[in-house]
Amino acid sequence: MAENGKSPAKSTSSADRYTITAALPYTNGPIHIGHLAGVYVPADIYSRYLRLIGKDVAFVCGSDEHGVAISMKAKKEGVSPKAVIDKYHSIIKKSFVDFGISFDNYSRTSAEIHHKTASEFFEKLYGQGDFIEETTAQLYDEEAQQFLADRFVVGACPKCGHEEAYGDQCENCGSTLNATDLINPKSTITGAVPTLKETKHWFLPLDRYEDFLKKWILEGHKNDWKPNVYGQCKSWIDDGLKPRAVTRDLDWGIPVPVKGGEGKVLYVWFDAPIGYISSTKEWAEREGKDWEPYWKDENTKLLHFIGKDNIVFHCIIFPSILKAHGGYILPENVPANEFLNLEGNKLSTSKNWAVWLHEYLEEFPDMQDVLRYTLTANAPETKDNDFTWKDFQARNNNELVAIFGNFINRVVVLTHKYYSGVVPSPSNLTKVDEKTLAELKKYPGIISNSLERYRFREAGQELMNLARLGNKYLADEEPWKVIKEDAERVQTILYVALQIATGLAVLSEPFLPFTSNKLKNILNVSLSAVEGLIQWKDISSKDSLLPSGHQIGKAELLYRKIEDQEIQAQLDKLEATKKSNEQMNKEVEPQKDTITFDDFSKLDMRVGTIVEAEKMAKAKKLLVLKVDTGLDTRTIVSGIAESFTPEEIVGKKVTVLINLAPRALRGVESEGMILMTENEEGKLVFVNPDEEGVGNGLTIS
Ligand code: 2FM
Ligand code: ZN
Repeated sequence: MAENGKSPAKSTSSADRYTITAALPYTNGPIHIGHLAGVYVPADIYSRYLRLIGKDVAFVCGSDEHGVAISMKAKKEGVSPKAVIDKYHSIIKKSFVDFGISFDNYSRTSAEIHHKTASEFFEKLYGQGDFIEETTAQLYDEEAQQFLADRFVVGACPKCGHEEAYGDQCENCGSTLNATDLINPKSTITGAVPTLKETKHWFLPLDRYEDFLKKWILEGHKNDWKPNVYGQCKSWIDDGLKPRAVTRDLDWGIPVPVKGGEGKVLYVWFDAPIGYISSTKEWAEREGKDWEPYWKDENTKLLHFIGKDNIVFHCIIFPSILKAHGGYILPENVPANEFLNLEGNKLSTSKNWAVWLHEYLEEFPDMQDVLRYTLTANAPETKDNDFTWKDFQARNNNELVAIFGNFINRVVVLTHKYYSGVVPSPSNLTKVDEKTLAELKKYPGIISNSLERYRFREAGQELMNLARLGNKYLADEEPWKVIKEDAERVQTILYVALQIATGLAVLSEPFLPFTSNKLKNILNVSLSAVEGLIQWKDISSKDSLLPSGHQIGKAELLYRKIEDQEIQAQLDKLEATKKSNEQMNKEVEPQKDTITFDDFSKLDMRVGTIVEAEKMAKAKKLLVLKVDTGLDTRTIVSGIAESFTPEEIVGKKVTVLINLAPRALRGVESEGMILMTENEEGKLVFVNPDEEGVGNGLTIS
């Protein structure tokens, strides 16, 4: 095994060992379909697949229980952070079990083993002189008497202009930020404008890792990492990496374990990824294994499954920490997904715009695989994608019920009807039979090929294509008709169909684990293809998967149809959420402090006309406008790109504040501000009281 500080050991064994991690969810709320689609379903499919092909897998996760997200939730609910983490840790853990996410270990970062592991990491880096210790001015909320970092502060992102960027990250453009970078910062605890106060922190000088990151990612992973992941990494590295604070002035987290660190804690993004290692240690201890090969042996492949907002932490910061520590392997790949939307809108915990897993199961009991299947079919692999209830219904009714379920049901029912459930003996195989059996043999390879390139959507569709093959075979061969004139031929037809059914039972396990178990029961084959008789590779190599004479089990429906009214009930529920959010938005903001006439007269507002408009490259929200103010034609960068296309606003008359101090947004100097408000649907509109949906009391900003 590698010694600390040295390179990972090259093992002589050819053992294929995998450490698969799935992002540790914050325990500040339950989890929803976005989490499942983006991270946990693909990670589970991959881990199950690897186990099926005989690999040694440690699939680890756990609850992320530190950081401001937890403190904020505790403050909001008036309870202790411990009460919050205990509550959501058990809800989240249960959801994972309920949905068949087959973690080898699900830990939590409040566990002693994690505190110890994370503290040791910090101490080691500290001891090696890998941190910069510096006293700097940080944002401070005088009213709450607290330093403001991470989610305790919001403001405009200096990179893309997004108004609600956090103190450590902008979720709109993915940039990592320092709280002091935010424009117009505001405390999320009291709403106060922060002051600056000096405090000491430890910084990880990421700039020292630039050469290593360039070589490892830009040269080493250009072709095998997903373009979205590689592209984000490249843009951060090209922008120049800066030192990043890895400690915080907070009272919730892992205490800084070195002199001078009293009253301070580790930054959540320092400790959370180390949670993968702690979780592996916990698992190994329980199973009587050695954890170290899973993190230190170069023959082990480390894969991080995450959402796109976590890319920088897993590709730049954590690898730099591992590199600084020494002796650890680096991720082989980080197949990050984009985001899932729900019925056209961004999933949002605070706006309750979500399908919560625990609620889904109350409404669709025993239908975990339907959700897993739909989320895989629509996985946001290369771009943000939309979950709609109508699509969910269609995937279930037209694919799972009409193709997969229908095929299995016909084969099993006919086998019982004609042969009392005993697999018949085939006689002469026709060309069609041979071709069909040859096709079946190709599927393990086809599905593996998609999975190993992290193309889960494609892999799921290939599985359905195998069911299509079976369905078409039965429809073409029509055993229910042939039985009247050629009973012997039907034996062969059902024998062939039963081989396909067995192939489906094994190959569906990564995607549809509940279906796979049910089907194995129906076919009366070993429940676990990992330990049992039929292996993934057998589907390609064996001529007979389910031998003649084998007694199958009772027929049982794999899926049921979803009725229109069930879907309508879900849509109604979302509509009610939308209405209640609109109602809350309508709440009129209180009047601001009185100003004098002199204050007012300082504002120079003019009527202007937008004469040109274009989208700003790589900024979803920004338009670059040229506005004729009567005095001149000037450039104004406006965060309205999600509400208007450039074409529809050229020629529009607007009110412009022209003497606002110019500020650069993404390198373009903006020389004024166009007055906007939000209508009752939350859509941005130009200030014009006659615009539809603009009610009294709306704030102009
Ligand atoms: O974004 C999140 O929800 C974080 N809790 C993910 C942490 S992943 C890991 F590094 F722990
Ligand atoms: Zn941004």
